Amino acid sequence: MEKYVIHGGTTLHGEVEISGAKNAAVAIIPAALMVDGVCVIENMPQISDTEMLLTILRELGAKIRYLNRSTVEIDCTNVWMQDAPYDLMRKIRASYYLIGAMLGRFGHAKTTMPGGCNFGVRPIDQHIKGMNALGADVDVKSGFVYADARDGKLHGARIYLDKVSVGATMNIILAATLAQGRTIIENAAREPHIVDLANFLNSMGADIRGAGTDTVKVNGVERLHGGSYAIIPDQIEAGTYMVAAAATGGEVLIKNVIPRHLECISAKLRETGTIVLENGDTVLVKGASALRKINVKTLPYPGFPTDMQPPMCALLCVANGTSVITEGVYDNRYKYVNELRKMGAEIQVDGRVAVVEGGKRLSGAPVTACDLRAGAAMVIAGMCAAGTTVVEDVRFIERGYENFVGKLNALGADIHIVDEAEETDGREKILSIMG
Ligand code: EPU
Repeated sequence: MEKYVIHGGTTLHGEVEISGAKNAAVAIIPAALMVDGVCVIENMPQISDTEMLLTILRELGAKIRYLNRSTVEIDCTNVWMQDAPYDLMRKIRASYYLIGAMLGRFGHAKTTMPGGCNFGVRPIDQHIKGMNALGADVDVKSGFVYADARDGKLHGARIYLDKVSVGATMNIILAATLAQGRTIIENAAREPHIVDLANFLNSMGADIRGAGTDTVKVNGVERLHGGSYAIIPDQIEAGTYMVAAAATGGEVLIKNVIPRHLECISAKLRETGTIVLENGDTVLVKGASALRKINVKTLPYPGFPTDMQPPMCALLCVANGTSVITEGVYDNRYKYVNELRKMGAEIQVDGRVAVVEGGKRLSGAPVTACDLRAGAAMVIAGMCAAGTTVVEDVRFIERGYENFVGKLNALGADIHIVDEAEETDGREKILSIMG
């Protein structure tokens, strides 16, 4: 078990390169399962969620090899129908995409209920509703999901989502790609990674239109062929460095981004007094000498992303004045607030609303990364705080940020990764020498 030891009071300066988008990659890897041929995928982020999905594909019979650090070749020509490996599946949320992909390819799927970050109840009823409409029976029993196409093949259908869901939209796109006939998804989510999944599938021969709008039309095709594709840059990774630069009062050039995907984040940062300048595929963020309070509400895209809520909350702790955050996507995404309080933050939470009394000098403390984005918030708070912060459970952070510590240290942060096992070993050795 590793932890991060952060010596606070540093200001970030320099340039950082953004990796491929996690939430696109975790759908594109299962999508490769439906491809009858070899896919070469560039800009694959080196994070534990993608590694886990690649391992799952390998266990299903796929041939996988890295051509370079971020380019992976996946050949699923010879995968065969079998149960997806339970232990790996239950660790990640995105394992639910294997339901759509396996149904599409084999007409049958047995997976586990997905894992992932705990933000309260995270149902998959809209995924199931979509699969049912496409002609699959879905049964959830003892932690497993069993899905079977009633007549061995899925059939296009019109599906209205009762809730705007990224996962359900992508899962239905996956299942509908090889179905017979046309599927129309209404009230679809519009996130950039949905467009990226559709672009990936289209480049392999699928016929998907309207991704990025609230109506997605999928004309089923017989087969997908191999090809090459580059994943878009990660909107949330970029946003996290933008917030980190602003919170520490630094100046950072964030490279390999699509500024349009960042507009919701740039707009809120500008309200705090931060300067954000877009130029081509970069944004330059210059922190203000004194950050101002803001109100922010998270919403599905193009709204302010829920995944940026914890990092933004860390920034608002050091901004002047009282800010109000309203969480518009999840019921319970404030568990991390207790950790920020250990550092001296003053935050009141009532249901989906958090009131942040800013202008506090945070002080270093031992804290836990309760989930991926909460972990990023702890690191940002730790860099702003006086003294030393120790962040535990950093495996959550490593699920979604490639080389987080390396990239931050290159910008001037002072963070060390400490292996708790080695530390205990060392302590025991010292004690035994002393004893
Ligand atoms: N919901 C339902 N029923 C469903 C599906 C979703 O009620 O069948 C609800 C959820 O409980 C939630 C809301 O709808 O309240 C939105 O959930 P959504 O389905 O959009 O989220 P998700 O697919 O489970 C993905 C990302 C999350 C990100 C959300 C929102 C992946 C693997 N996960 O989750 O990413 O927060 O979309 O943008 O793509 C992260 O990266 O840190 C992360 C948590």
